[in-house]
Amino acid sequence: MSDSTIVLITGANSGVGYATTEAIVSQPGFHVILACRDPAKGNQARAELLQKHPKGSLSVLQLDVEDDNSIAQAVTSVTNEFGRVDAFISNAGTTAVGTSGREKLQRTFSANVFGAMMVTEAFIPLLLQSKQPRLVQISSGLGSLGLASDLSSPYAASPWDEYRMSKAALNMMTIQMHKRLMGKNVRVFAFCPGLVRSRLRGESEEEVSAQGRAGDPMVPGRALLDIVAGRRDEEAGQFLSAASGVFPW
Ligand SMILES: NC(=O)c1ccc[n+]([C@@H]2O[C@H](COP(=O)([O-])OP(=O)(O)OC[C@H]3O[C@@H](n4cnc5c(N)ncnc54)[C@H](OP(=O)(O)O)[C@@H]3O)[C@@H](O)[C@H]2O)c1
Repeated sequence: MSDSTIVLITGANSGVGYATTEAIVSQPGFHVILACRDPAKGNQARAELLQKHPKGSLSVLQLDVEDDNSIAQAVTSVTNEFGRVDAFISNAGTTAVGTSGREKLQRTFSANVFGAMMVTEAFIPLLLQSKQPRLVQISSGLGSLGLASDLSSPYAASPWDEYRMSKAALNMMTIQMHKRLMGKNVRVFAFCPGLVRSRLRGESEEEVSAQGRAGDPMVPGRALLDIVAGRRDEEAGQFLSAASGVFPW
């Protein structure tokens, strides 16, 4: 295990996090920590993935990014078991389906901004124990101010205001972390998976598939494998897109 690249993925039991875990554990030399708020879902995901990839190396960690006690316990547990994290993928996120108004804003920002920031800050000391640390914030092209204000961009027309605002805030956090950590050898990225099948928009087939428009989450999963394997290190400090190179912030 000490020779493996240790990758921690928040929200790893579903959608982009699950596919990324699959892409990574299909390769030798990695151990993925599936950090999930519901350990039962994490254990189920682990069992499924081990069926498909019997040589995969996977463990489950209880981690609710909106719960400071859960974050503290998760840091203690990873410190004791692994002593470092080589790649931290801050992926857990929500559109707070079924809510509106202030509650929608609060729930969206609680997970996508406050949760992402608190959990990342808590794990930075473990990243600094790695020889090749990499930190990825899973954002969205919908959070790009450049694309939102370019009326010729297909990204401009989409609503999802609260979600877009949360990912714009996440992008600013990522830029700030990049500047703070670049001198400490940490490669920091924002990453947009593109429109892919997941439970982000709801549970029905129409919502999962975005009315048939959503692609395969293995596409961003494999792009994230490239990032954690160091194949995109020269693009650190940028907002990468699974489909289109680099996005404007
Ligand atoms: N799918 C897309 O088209 C798309 C496009 C652009 C960006 N993204 C981004 O991709 C990331 C993953 O989303 P997804 O599309 O894969 O959606 P998803 O299938 O709904 O997965 C979201 C994951 O985040 C977890 N999560 C939510 N709140 C959490 C919390 N407080 N603590 C820990 N885990 C929490 C969920 O856990 P539970 O299973 O327990 O709910 C689930 O595992 C998000 O950041 C999203 O904004 C997705």
